[in-house]
Amino acid sequence: MVADKKVYAFIHHEFVPLTEAYLHISDLAIQRGYGIFDYFWIQRGQPLFFEDYLDRFYQSAGLMQLPVPLERRALREKALELIRLNNFPLSGMKLLLTGGYSESGYEPGTPNLVLIEQAVAYPEQENVEKGIKIITHEYQRELPAAKTINYNMGIRLIGQIKEKGAQDVLYHQNGIVTEFPRSNFFIVKQDNTIATPAREVLKGITRKNVLDLAAATYATEEGNITFEDVQQAKEAFQTSTTKRIVPIVQINDTLIGTGKPGSVTLALLQQLEALEQQYIDQTK
Ligand SMILES: Cc1ncc(COP(=O)(O)O)c(C=O)c1O
Repeated sequence: MVADKKVYAFIHHEFVPLTEAYLHISDLAIQRGYGIFDYFWIQRGQPLFFEDYLDRFYQSAGLMQLPVPLERRALREKALELIRLNNFPLSGMKLLLTGGYSESGYEPGTPNLVLIEQAVAYPEQENVEKGIKIITHEYQRELPAAKTINYNMGIRLIGQIKEKGAQDVLYHQNGIVTEFPRSNFFIVKQDNTIATPAREVLKGITRKNVLDLAAATYATEEGNITFEDVQQAKEAFQTSTTKRIVPIVQINDTLIGTGKPGSVTLALLQQLEALEQQYIDQTK
């Protein structure tokens, strides 16, 4: 029998077995849900698009007034050391920064920085092959540019999504769509323009990569997208680190385009996979 692999985490400035990685209950993340994080994938020992995720991590920390206890270069080194220690073939790493131990349970302490790495699997092909159905919900995240640990609304909507036979929920404000709880939204217009909401959204790293790839072939637009725009679109899809690109074929009761995953969406997915490979080959 193969012994269970020992997995390490970085916490309180040291590497410890994941099973021993604890935060005290006085942490503001537990007391008030105050903290930020970021999350990226590691393929063959290479953190994909690492600098983009580090940029966003420090930006989220700044927006939430949480000083990061490690400078960027030191944080990068710790992440790479953890990757070497764990040696997963394919994994995801979470950089978590909490409000810290708080005596009053309200005022921030010294932020706790935690690095967790876990094995992951490539996304299920079924969603890509069939496309997904989404519902909509009126909601605006409080600090859209920050990747905070507050997913209250998304988690509260899990039951409703399942009841409606859908796979995700798209947030909107007065009929102007923004983002999903954990991914960004795109449409392909009838003239093949690739459009994505610009305001009040988290600037996803996958969103950025897809916009760059799309710009080589199509017109791209970052701006307001209404329900009407979505209904008239030829294709729609969502993007995120873990999902890459997933075609959307139905929004509430309305089919999008032909009701099947579109060719522009699937071509962009292939290009994104190729970009990942290119990144790994170049940074080796
Ligand atoms: C609110 C929100 N929007 C978009 C995304 C997608 O971002 P990325 O492509 O960097 O994973 C995420 C990722 O978790 C998110 O939480």
